[in-house]
Amino acid sequence: MSKLDRRGFLRRSTALLAAGSLPVSLVEMAFGKSSSQNFTFAYISDSHITHLKGREFVRNWDRGLIRAVAEANLLDPRPDFVFYGGDIAQLGKPEEIDHGLDILGGLRGKVHYVMGEHDYYLDLGEHWRKRLGPEHYSFDHKGVHFVVLNSILTFDDWMYDKWPSGEERMHQMARLDNPQGSPFMVGDEQRAWLKKDLAKVGRQTPVVVFSHSPLQKIYKGWNFWTDDAEQVQALLKPFDKVTVLYGHVHQIQYNQIGNISFHAAMATAWPWPYPQSYRQQASYLPKLTVPMNRADPFFERDATGWQFIDLHSGNAEVAYVLPNNSNRVVRFDPGAGKPVDTQYQPADKRIPPQKHY
Ligand SMILES: [Fe+2]
Ligand SMILES: [Fe+2]
Repeated sequence: MSKLDRRGFLRRSTALLAAGSLPVSLVEMAFGKSSSQNFTFAYISDSHITHLKGREFVRNWDRGLIRAVAEANLLDPRPDFVFYGGDIAQLGKPEEIDHGLDILGGLRGKVHYVMGEHDYYLDLGEHWRKRLGPEHYSFDHKGVHFVVLNSILTFDDWMYDKWPSGEERMHQMARLDNPQGSPFMVGDEQRAWLKKDLAKVGRQTPVVVFSHSPLQKIYKGWNFWTDDAEQVQALLKPFDKVTVLYGHVHQIQYNQIGNISFHAAMATAWPWPYPQSYRQQASYLPKLTVPMNRADPFFERDATGWQFIDLHSGNAEVAYVLPNNSNRVVRFDPGAGKPVDTQYQPADKRIPPQKHY
């Protein structure tokens, strides 16, 4: 997509945003020399649909997802497909997954899904698989190879032997600070599958990997972490252009490790804090030069929003569009060899939430 086209695209989408915040992420793929190959897809994640009783669900989380679906349907240009980043449900109940899928059923076009730990640990993914199919798969679209991995598996003894019931297991894994939890991992079986899957892909083919947890290690205490991340990264190393998109952390994060760009999506439900804010815990993510201003309880959709990811030339250029904060762009700096925020804001000069609606 030419720069002019892209600006027009941003303008149209920003105008749409002005009509109301969009808790979706629109991802622009601009790999090819031929503009006919450029395409976009939307990214919605972490709705945490919560069942109360009977047909009652927590309304606020329903509303976040309903809004994302309605607004994704208005996107112009139309995204080629929608990706859902996991955690449809809060406690993995069939009612929650079904209710979430009823809402997501309103989306126009194809939707691809990845498993979140909140979808998994009640029944080890049985209902999710029944509704949505396999937990790992790949597909090709307009010259890009897409891979979906279930990154929230853990040790067999923790999954199968440790807990008296699925409910107890789910409650332990549903906590942010989960001392009884267990680190997430992709596991031997899927890594063997991934190796085989990638063997038939040309090194110049752009590869995009969807996972729920980050395929990088950020903060173990909150499971912002995938234990075998380095082993997965090693399988992706031979490719010229790799992008990993993940949910789970409910916040903006970006990183570059070797040839791999990492980007997190915001949630439609709520924002999580940054790990650094929790008792000054060390985080393995590079310092974000412009952290989000949040969470302000007076702004219902603060810390939700969407972003454009332009991977032209194989490096990510991310335009963040935040409903209650000033927009910003994080652009790969070839000199520095890493993404750089174009609007550095020291902590005492952050721009506060901008407007109510
Ligand atoms: Fe989540
Ligand atoms: Fe999650």
